[in-house]
Amino acid sequence: MSAEVPKRISITDLPGVGPSTANKLIEAGYTTIEAIAAATPEELAKIGIPLMTAQKIVKKARELLDIRFKTAKEIKEERKHLRKITTGSKNLDDLLGGGVEIKTMTEFFGEFGSGKSQICHQLSVNVQLPLEQGGLSTEDKVAKAVYIDTEGTFRWERIEQMANCLGLDPDKVMENIFYIRAVNSDHQMAIADELMDLIPKENIRLVVVDSVTSHFRAEYPGRENLAVRQQKLNKHLHQLGKLAEVFNTAVVITNQVMARPDVFYGDPTQAVGGHVLYHAPGIRVQLKKARGNKRIARMVDAPHLPEGETVFAITECGIRDPED
Ligand code: GTP
Ligand code: MG
Repeated sequence: MSAEVPKRISITDLPGVGPSTANKLIEAGYTTIEAIAAATPEELAKIGIPLMTAQKIVKKARELLDIRFKTAKEIKEERKHLRKITTGSKNLDDLLGGGVEIKTMTEFFGEFGSGKSQICHQLSVNVQLPLEQGGLSTEDKVAKAVYIDTEGTFRWERIEQMANCLGLDPDKVMENIFYIRAVNSDHQMAIADELMDLIPKENIRLVVVDSVTSHFRAEYPGRENLAVRQQKLNKHLHQLGKLAEVFNTAVVITNQVMARPDVFYGDPTQAVGGHVLYHAPGIRVQLKKARGNKRIARMVDAPHLPEGETVFAITECGIRDPED
């Protein structure tokens, strides 16, 4: 099984999808095999496709995309070949088991200024590097990034600077980063839906959501809104997890939390999605400020990686190992 983006198959290639079914699917936004694979038969039944047909269509779409039972041995082989995106710091890559993994959601959480957005900028550049340099670009296809910015902290100047340091053409690098400002949580979720089309079309191999929690936090403040907030945020995280899984893409999310994790995890009114994110699948890395430009990264709960800590630096060129 290859870890590359599956080749594009049209929805009309699915058995049981005639012109009228195809129209219903397309009108409801299911324009790709991936979108159908990510749907449940019940969802398709809601748009007027008989449940039995819907079940067949979804099953076939998943088969075509190779979403099926696998043996543990197959999983082991796949893991070995899973591509990683370098962070720019060998220390941080080692902590992550080689870099940021595709097919996985990686969360960077920490206080303000701990380096979450800097890592997101760096990864958006690094994903474009060729495979042998820690990116995901192949000879015939450039790997691109989507940057969903909820706080307005994206800086193209920083991208330019990072690209220059790597000897890349900054204009080309910037052309391969699809930026969008999410204005509220509903918009943020609608954007994630749209990615179903954009990811295969543009060979997007990294989706950044910086930060994943801020709108949810602002729109559903306090204990009385906690349940609704968690429910919505869960749905969004589920959406993002599906994207990672279905498209062999890396999904990187950030989450600002206070410096004291005991407070953060202890009190639900303080826990900005904390508990929710805690149960989402993937990798969680806590970032902490250290002296000067140094930052500490700690692996929190990765199913297949040892817990540990390391130090990296935020330099003029971006994320690097510390010099001393
Ligand atoms: P919040 O979004 O506020 O929660 O913080 P964050 O974790 O996203 O922090 P961010 O990644 O924005 O890190 C900010 C830090 O990166 C700054 O305090 C600087 O130390 C460093 N930094 C940002 N831009 C530059 C730059 O152009 N050059 C250098 N050398 N450092 C930078
Ligand atoms: Mg930030």
